[in-house]
Amino acid sequence: MAQANPSVAYSRIQVEPASGALGAEIQGVDLARLDDATFEEIYDAWLANQVLFFRDQSLSPADQTAFASRFGELDVYPFIQPLPDFPHVIPIIKEKDTRMNFGGGWHSDMSYQARPVKATLLYGIQVPARGGDTLFANMIAAYEALSDGMKQMLDGLRGVFTAAKVHGAEGLYQNADHPMAKQKDSDREQARHLHPVVRTHPETGRKALFLDAPHVERFENMRISESEPLMSFLAEHATQHHFTTRFSWRPGSLAVWDNRCVQHYALNDYAGQRREMNRVTVKGDVPF
Ligand code: SIN
Repeated sequence: MAQANPSVAYSRIQVEPASGALGAEIQGVDLARLDDATFEEIYDAWLANQVLFFRDQSLSPADQTAFASRFGELDVYPFIQPLPDFPHVIPIIKEKDTRMNFGGGWHSDMSYQARPVKATLLYGIQVPARGGDTLFANMIAAYEALSDGMKQMLDGLRGVFTAAKVHGAEGLYQNADHPMAKQKDSDREQARHLHPVVRTHPETGRKALFLDAPHVERFENMRISESEPLMSFLAEHATQHHFTTRFSWRPGSLAVWDNRCVQHYALNDYAGQRREMNRVTVKGDVPF
């Protein structure tokens, strides 16, 4: 995809596209020592490519927090205890013998909130020699590929978003063996928020599908059974291979994605190996 503003030539960073669909690797930067002019180029490349990858960084939780703060006000994840002294940084750990991984399904982070998050910054501390990649899918391309009839049908439709399907009493994570310390927040588990299933990106003006299966219960004014066929179609449509890219982690890699127009999926294909990441999220837009 082209730069958000194609007339801007990057002078401080190199941008290497990661696939035909979305994503780019940024070279030539040390994220722990960043000046404002370099960040402006990074931010422009981020809007244009939707997810950026950085290699060979050395980021303490404080460095990651400082870089994330450049994208906006930081959010607090409700269901996992953050690192001591770093309220915005959560560990995402899968031990050698942990069975279930965190984020192992296509989703947009914290879309169940009244303000779904804008950006996620994920940093690799210890990663498997092979496996544990993260997949990303472009929700702008997925929307644009729909027929005019389907676009008209989706226009004005809202999803009922909730954390209950994952974090609730009957939720997917109820018996998960994640080693991270859980936090209980019953109100946020059970809350429902309505969001348009086609959203206009507040910065690029482009329309994107906004509907992730783990966090959407049904469509507004419809039953679950009535909603499911269309939700399943859209979930399959949106994550076809030609809308995706795949990132293989190394220690010191950082990915930053735009949850307003990207879904992601953490692969669980590394039994017997340990994976440890730190994650920071940036608050979403108001009004949504
Ligand atoms: C997440 O869903 O934020 C985790 C992604 C990953 O661990 O690759």
